[in-house]
Amino acid sequence: MKTVRLGIAGLGHVGCGLIDLVERQADLRLPGKVEIVGVSARSRSRNRPVDISGYRWFDDAASLAEDSDVDVFVELMGGSDGPAKFAVEEALKAGKPVVTANKALIAMHGQALEELAQTKGVDLMFEAAVAGGVPIVRVLRDSLTGVAVKRVTGILNGTCNYLTTTMLNTGRSYEDVLEEAQRLGYAEADPTLDVSGMDAAHKAAILASIAFTADLDFDKVSVKGVDTIELVDLSFADRLGLRIKLITEGVLTESGVVCRVAPMAMPIDHPLARIDGALNTVRVEGDPLGAVTLTGPGAGAGPTASAVMGDISKLFSPTARSPFGRAAHHQVRRFVAAEPTERCPFFVRVKLSDRPGALASLTEALALHGVSVDKLLQDSADDNDVSPVAIVTHACSRGEIDAATERLSALETNIGMLQVIPIDAAGKREPGR
Ligand SMILES: NC(=O)c1ccc[n+]([C@@H]2O[C@H](COP(=O)([O-])OP(=O)(O)OC[C@H]3O[C@@H](n4cnc5c(N)ncnc54)[C@H](OP(=O)(O)O)[C@@H]3O)[C@@H](O)[C@H]2O)c1
Repeated sequence: MKTVRLGIAGLGHVGCGLIDLVERQADLRLPGKVEIVGVSARSRSRNRPVDISGYRWFDDAASLAEDSDVDVFVELMGGSDGPAKFAVEEALKAGKPVVTANKALIAMHGQALEELAQTKGVDLMFEAAVAGGVPIVRVLRDSLTGVAVKRVTGILNGTCNYLTTTMLNTGRSYEDVLEEAQRLGYAEADPTLDVSGMDAAHKAAILASIAFTADLDFDKVSVKGVDTIELVDLSFADRLGLRIKLITEGVLTESGVVCRVAPMAMPIDHPLARIDGALNTVRVEGDPLGAVTLTGPGAGAGPTASAVMGDISKLFSPTARSPFGRAAHHQVRRFVAAEPTERCPFFVRVKLSDRPGALASLTEALALHGVSVDKLLQDSADDNDVSPVAIVTHACSRGEIDAATERLSALETNIGMLQVIPIDAAGKREPGR
């Protein structure tokens, strides 16, 4: 089994999230083994959620980047300049691949760093820099190469989306919700980068550069944030069937690539209008694809670290992998049939003959097998005296609903085939026990 040895600079949210992932890599599907050979941050003694005492400490990130034991340098310090930029440059100059989550660095200096990486023939990877756990960089760069991209739109700042969503849903002011977001840790103590639109602009520029093979020129990006949005704007828009969101856009025009970030109003049935809370989403439109949309957690230690790890796993050599991504050291799992104890609500549709007591016999038959009714709709009987009934049950097991269905089918008042469809209430089906 191959091993990749990491030097990790930056032990904050994402850095500690990555160390945690490295420590439980047996659960992952990496092509080989990942080891940490050294770590660096500002303070060695700071309390952290992971134990770093077993790793070599470097006061200086650049020395870690150049250390001969390090195969891959992972930069998780942040900041477009200063130590992050210097250490990344030193790693690339030393011929080491770099993985970073630093959107400010890539947006401001990505072009020069790309040149340096290519001169040295090493990878510079930054999946985690855009939309955290949503794998949009790789999809855009590697999977959608057969698409002539026309437009990339997105919601790329979870804090702004949380603010506008929560203001509208709770009727509270911008200041009030921002203060809450800071208290809950969704927004930074200094939220300026987020609410000014700058953070989203960094990400939008990176995506536009990849989508349109454009030289990344951040000075040309137009940026407006949500810091001027008031509750009255959101509620008036709502009454007009619109949602206001901070939208990023990169679009190919005849004169070049236009990249902007601004609050936009859109009809409530627009795919981006339905993205609420701290989620991120990216929609890529192009020919002959049409459109594809990816949505998921755009920040947070775990999701962001998983994107960093995804990049690291691309750096094992040889790069050719088994078609299903399996390696000899992976645990071999087997397919099993769905557990009859798996629990969820069900949609049940029955056709009853229009007789007194027919409905009661239906609910009794369900109750006999432990299936209770959450919602019930009944239509008037048709010309043949057949009355359709639809039921949403409370969560029950597949075994319970199967037994109840058998009993329902045998009812004298039942006519024809029943319909029984499991309801996936936002992916909340409980596994079998
Ligand atoms: N947090 C997220 O959800 C998220 C999502 C996507 C991308 N990112 C990006 O990931 C990177 C890290 O974010 P984070 O949230 O983990 O940041 P963070 O919690 O603030 O941690 C930053 C880490 O870098 C170290 N550091 C900062 N300045 C340094 C310097 N001058 N020299 C040496 N070490 C320095 C800090 O050291 P001390 O601990 O000793 O102070 C800390 O360990 C940033 O580029 C961010 O934009 C973050």
